[in-house]
Amino acid sequence: MCGIVGIIGHNDISAELLKMLHGLEYRGYDSSGIAVNFNGDFQVYKKAGPLSVLRQEIEGITLQGTSGIGHTRWATHGAPTDNNAHPFLSLNSSVTVVHNGIIENYKVLRKTLLEKGYVMASETDSEVIAHLIELFVDNNPNWTFRDLVVYLSDTLEGAYALLIQFADKPNEIYGLRFECPLAYVQTANTVAISSDIASLIGYDRNINILRDGQAVHITLDNEELINFDSTEVDRLHVSVDWDVKAAEKSGYDYFLRKEIDEQSDSVRALKRTLIDKAEKITAFIKDTNPDTVIFIACGSASYSGVFASVFARHAELKQTVSWEIGSEFRYNPPIINEKTLVIGMSQSGETADTVTALRYAKSKGAKVISIINVVGSTISMIGDLTINLSAGPEVAVPSTKAVINQFISAVFLIEVLRNQEQDFLTQWLLTVDELATVIGKIIEQEEVIKNYAKQLAGHQNMFIVGRGLDYSISLEGALKLKETAYIHAEAMYAGEFKHGSISLIEYGMPVLILLGDESVAAKTIINAEEVATRGGQLFIIDSLAGENFDFSCEVNYIKIPPIKKPFNLISQIVVLQLLAYHAGLHRNINVDKPRNLAKSVTVE
Ligand code: M6R
Repeated sequence: MCGIVGIIGHNDISAELLKMLHGLEYRGYDSSGIAVNFNGDFQVYKKAGPLSVLRQEIEGITLQGTSGIGHTRWATHGAPTDNNAHPFLSLNSSVTVVHNGIIENYKVLRKTLLEKGYVMASETDSEVIAHLIELFVDNNPNWTFRDLVVYLSDTLEGAYALLIQFADKPNEIYGLRFECPLAYVQTANTVAISSDIASLIGYDRNINILRDGQAVHITLDNEELINFDSTEVDRLHVSVDWDVKAAEKSGYDYFLRKEIDEQSDSVRALKRTLIDKAEKITAFIKDTNPDTVIFIACGSASYSGVFASVFARHAELKQTVSWEIGSEFRYNPPIINEKTLVIGMSQSGETADTVTALRYAKSKGAKVISIINVVGSTISMIGDLTINLSAGPEVAVPSTKAVINQFISAVFLIEVLRNQEQDFLTQWLLTVDELATVIGKIIEQEEVIKNYAKQLAGHQNMFIVGRGLDYSISLEGALKLKETAYIHAEAMYAGEFKHGSISLIEYGMPVLILLGDESVAAKTIINAEEVATRGGQLFIIDSLAGENFDFSCEVNYIKIPPIKKPFNLISQIVVLQLLAYHAGLHRNINVDKPRNLAKSVTVE
């Protein structure tokens, strides 16, 4: 949450900062701001609202200076107002700061600063950092980079990625990382530093990633990287093969729609990654020889764990496979030991709830596989083994292509637990191509789906119903409709309806029925008819081979071309994505940036 950027070496500095922030806006869009250092004076512009408001504010103003920092905010402390927007200036304007994370002891720090005569211009936890640095420098005129880092890491409690500029050091940026991401590139004439590699690849693909507890001081021709605790620095460089165009809209109205279209390619990319890595994964699992497997994740990423835990039962695994929500894991103390394999699933690789849960599991002796989409992310570094989802950059806040790849990789791991023969695994992975083809065929039915979405958009409440493996798909569908179309969609086990929730059914209420798990389809249909009898309006998504099922009532039917289990079930997600997308458009929602959300949830 919140994106921070900094750049040195550009004449058109405001345009460059806005460009970088544009690539990070999905991390938060409550406000944005920039500070440019021109000959020792900071020019600060910050506005509540999305980046477009800031863009408008500085249109026609030529900002001089060749370095600066910027911020896009997801509000935690203090409402989304101009005053609470970053960057923050210190009292005497000698320091500017942008911050991602939460300073947990800010109230104490604020009180101390107020007592010393400092004046707070905002209600945020972040502003104190700028004043503290100014105070530190005033008290320590001969300070060094290391002194500053020791002071800040000793003083600040919580999570932070910080960028700091001093008025009298125009072409220098200081960055600190503690539990929030930070990475940078350094080319012949540019330094760029950011929360996210997506806004760096336009400058260079060779990215330097700060590890937790590291700080950097960069200029155009120098760079010093240190650990907070003065231990030897372990550098991390990654080379990112993401296509720069993949992070652009390329003619689409919305990233969300573009990313839905990209799914055939992204599942093929994952297939290649898994084929390359199959031996390593197999060896790791053999070595770990787990008797318990726990998937840990949040939101959409967690549903692949729900799916895998049911799939494992169908596969008759000898291990117990379960799933847990990251934010709950530590508080409902789980039984963990060296025979526990934990699988952390996260697109961003930065979700704080998942990070803390995985660290906790590791501290109790579990082995961890991290499945992420962002190389060098925090979760990628926690894993004893890391698998890249290979979905390419995902910009829309509602996750699509990463989710499909999360389902595939979760099921793949179940297959590895069941059968470690390399030929079998390669053959299994080759069938992922069929899913890629079917995704294209589902998208060809967009007009029909769009029409159904229009009907859904007229309702505030709906159910998505499935049994067995279909239930995890209904969870994903419900979340997608909630976040993208603001429809209160509830996932429901088909058999559970009659135990209470069916009382909500009234004439015309939409109920979406998933028919992907053949072992329970006949029973699901009976439950669907019970809903229709009470006035529910049925929408059927059928991914099973054979003719359409017969219903005694009128139904809206979407038939998916048949493919092998479990890919038929996973393919149903694409229909749900398109329904959510079009229902969102009908409701005039900015489907790339739904209200109150951020893509990378780096606070607990
Ligand atoms: O980056 P992660 O995969 O860890 O994110 C987890 C969830 O926050 C994420 O899946 C969220 O639910 C999305 N908004 C779903 O579209």
